[in-house]
Amino acid sequence: MARAVALRITKLVAAKPAAVLGLPTGRTPVRLYAHLRSLFAAGKIDFSRVTTFNLDEFYGLPSDHPASYRSFMEEHLFKHVNLNWRRIHFLNGMDSSPERECRRYEAAIARVGGIDLQILGIGTNGHIGFNEPAPALQSDTHLARLKPETRRSNAMLFDGRVSAVPREALSMGVGTILRARAVVLMANGSRKADAVKATVEGPVTTRMPASLLQLHRNVELILEKAAAPKLHARMR
Ligand code: PGA
Repeated sequence: MARAVALRITKLVAAKPAAVLGLPTGRTPVRLYAHLRSLFAAGKIDFSRVTTFNLDEFYGLPSDHPASYRSFMEEHLFKHVNLNWRRIHFLNGMDSSPERECRRYEAAIARVGGIDLQILGIGTNGHIGFNEPAPALQSDTHLARLKPETRRSNAMLFDGRVSAVPREALSMGVGTILRARAVVLMANGSRKADAVKATVEGPVTTRMPASLLQLHRNVELILEKAAAPKLHARMR
């Protein structure tokens, strides 16, 4: 799965060296970034003109905090490849005005002409970014409250202490994600099987945020078999 997504990115950057990528954090993309590092080391991908926007960041954590998503990206990708730091974009979790910071982020995405390829993971509850299941969702980048299960699944970044996980985060909205020209959602492990099925075959509902991807014309799901057994559609 990780290799397939890495090759998808490599193909895009070969065709469009100044591509704009939307990038996720979490356990799922760890091997994706390992593949991208190897492809870079082998001279198969050049990031020098690529622009990146990360999906989300904890609110109230400095970007150099070891548990920040920025630190995760530095560790897994940024410090190993030739991305130009001026073209790396991140939400600033320390901005005193989250509204202003979210507007700045949307404007920065618009200024570079939008995201070419947004890579996503999916939560077991169907969240994408920090867009958690809810009766209504905010479309644009916004300050989000984390669900207890999401705080639990991030505890590994905080030495296993759930209480240390921030209660809020800044996140692209589902509208931000749907404005990307192409979306790739990756999922592995049987824990994700129900969310994957609901994403593809369930009703479009804010109670399963990933199901909103059904409204997009250019979405690919790149799945490990274990995440796909409940799908009626056959995998390629
Ligand atoms: P995971 O998280 O990759 O750590 O499973 C995915 C997500 O919650 O978006």
